Amino acid sequence: MDQYRVYGNPISQSKSPQIHQSFASQTHQVINYQSELVAVDEFEQTVRQFIEDGGKGANVTVPFKEQAMAICDELTSRAKLAGAVNTLSFKEGRISGDNTDGLGLVNDLLNHEVILANKRILLLGAGGAAKGVVLPLLEQKPTSITITNRTVSKAEALASKFNDKRINACGFSQTEGQNFDVIINATSASLSGDPLPIPPSVITTDTICYDMVYSSEATAFNSAAINNGAKQTIDGLGMLVGQAAESFAIWRGVTPETTQVYQQLKRALMASNPE
Ligand code: ATR
Repeated sequence: MDQYRVYGNPISQSKSPQIHQSFASQTHQVINYQSELVAVDEFEQTVRQFIEDGGKGANVTVPFKEQAMAICDELTSRAKLAGAVNTLSFKEGRISGDNTDGLGLVNDLLNHEVILANKRILLLGAGGAAKGVVLPLLEQKPTSITITNRTVSKAEALASKFNDKRINACGFSQTEGQNFDVIINATSASLSGDPLPIPPSVITTDTICYDMVYSSEATAFNSAAINNGAKQTIDGLGMLVGQAAESFAIWRGVTPETTQVYQQLKRALMASNPE
């Protein structure tokens, strides 16, 4: 049976084994996919041992996405631009790295009928999560992508990697008075529940807000967006399923359908917190 892993630290919360087993049964394939907690200084040796044992591929999550990139023999251009790898494939002794996070986000937006072509996008954050999504967002042909971050220099550094007139960078306060169709939160502020310091006026009744994290209730960012009258708010559960579907397609040559798994996870999440 073909073996797959997801490596992270922590990892017990990972829904990836459940998602990939669902994809496998849906596409009539038999795979073994398990999560594995890896000590922070043992990533490379763990992967190399897995390859020796016949492993076919692995997903990589926090904090190993940069280390995963470093051990690859070849990288897709989107992984290179993201500076991070979430999908490793092992074939004929070589390690290939890809990053499916951005496509997971874009596909989830499309599933929610959010079209990005000719739209003005505001991306909050310039860390690992933000880096992974800029190129796939750009491929949807938006009018502009404004990257804003608490530390402005990081937003500027990320924007300059693309050398594209549609991408610009600014501080949170400079978004005041600008109009955006879609705002994507790629900061980790929602995880700590911190409110975002973007001016409230930036979110209007025409704005669609997307938070890359997910929760059984509205995330801190989406709550603030709802309070400001945002037209639509979406959380990152669909992105999680979407990135997994793209990894599965890379490994197995077939793209699974995501709606059913998404609905299952959503129901389980609600049941875990009925209030
Ligand atoms: P990740 O891989 O989740 O993106 P990261 O690379 O550590 O994690 O990046 C975290 C992002 O969230 C950064 O953009 C960070 O802003 P800074 O670059 O200024 O540190 C942002 N962030 C974290 N906590 C925040 C908060 N309370 N308010 C605003 N931005 C925050």
